[in-house]
Amino acid sequence: MASKIAIASLIALSAASEGLRPWEAPGPNDLRSPCPMLNTLANHGYLPHDGRDISAQQFADAAFEVVNIDPMAIKQVANYFLRASNQTSINLTDLNRPGILQHIASLTRDDVTDPDSVDVTASQDRIHHLIKDSDTDCITIASLAKTRLHVEDLSSPKELTLKEQTFAYAEAGLLLLTMIEGDVPSGWSFPPATAYCAPKKRVETWLTEERFPEELGWKKSERTIGLMDFVPVIKGIYEEKRSQAGKGPLWKAFVPSFLQQAGTDSEL
Ligand code: HEM
Repeated sequence: MASKIAIASLIALSAASEGLRPWEAPGPNDLRSPCPMLNTLANHGYLPHDGRDISAQQFADAAFEVVNIDPMAIKQVANYFLRASNQTSINLTDLNRPGILQHIASLTRDDVTDPDSVDVTASQDRIHHLIKDSDTDCITIASLAKTRLHVEDLSSPKELTLKEQTFAYAEAGLLLLTMIEGDVPSGWSFPPATAYCAPKKRVETWLTEERFPEELGWKKSERTIGLMDFVPVIKGIYEEKRSQAGKGPLWKAFVPSFLQQAGTDSEL
């Protein structure tokens, strides 16, 4: 009997150690960022729950441990911010400063242009829109392209710089890859755009509550998500966005229209 209890306790212990740390909402003195993932990591206690004094290494360790994303890439992003703001560690609200990582036309936050703003609350309207932009049960490359066009429209006439556009595509990719259903397709396998589905309910719960929606099937990627895995997603969103905006494929922008016509004629 005693040995049965000991085995049961061992099983319970190992199940608990495999699970996520419990989620706790931020208190009135806890700081949060414009990044839904960093907030989620703080809410689950993988980053300091008070959101203060965090180093690049802590960001990288937390993202690797819980999401299984390349820690070197995460450390580079964090170091980029630390260098630009001349700090060795930061509070999460520091990330809201425009012009380093924070930008206009975000998927979930209204535009912030005040450098001292600590308003990092997610916009329920934007999240609602992001969900509605897909007419299936999944957030997809096509739906994210539609959402990007919508949020850029909201910020118009202000436009994203080239650097900010790159961040915005990478963030849309982060959303899709970290909330994906099933395994993250390897970027080296040149997966089609249709290979990516992040279940709507999972994305909505994550973005609204800033917690990992395990009850909706969210789990850490088995394979470490690397930079190459972003390539097909970013390319897909970029191309889909051009197509939805009626611009056609990028190569057409570089080829004079009479040559495009000639190409079409010779195919006939
Ligand atoms: C697993 C790692 C990460 C994931 C999955 C992730 C995901 C995301 C997503 C989906 C957004 C877009 C939110 C929106 O458009 O409203 C975002 C925004 C942002 N992230 Fe992260 N992130 C990660 C790591 C980091 C790190 C390490 C930093 C910096 C230390 C960072 C800083 C930011 C900032 C400043 C924004 C706001 C950009 C804006 O103005 O829209 N993120 N992140």
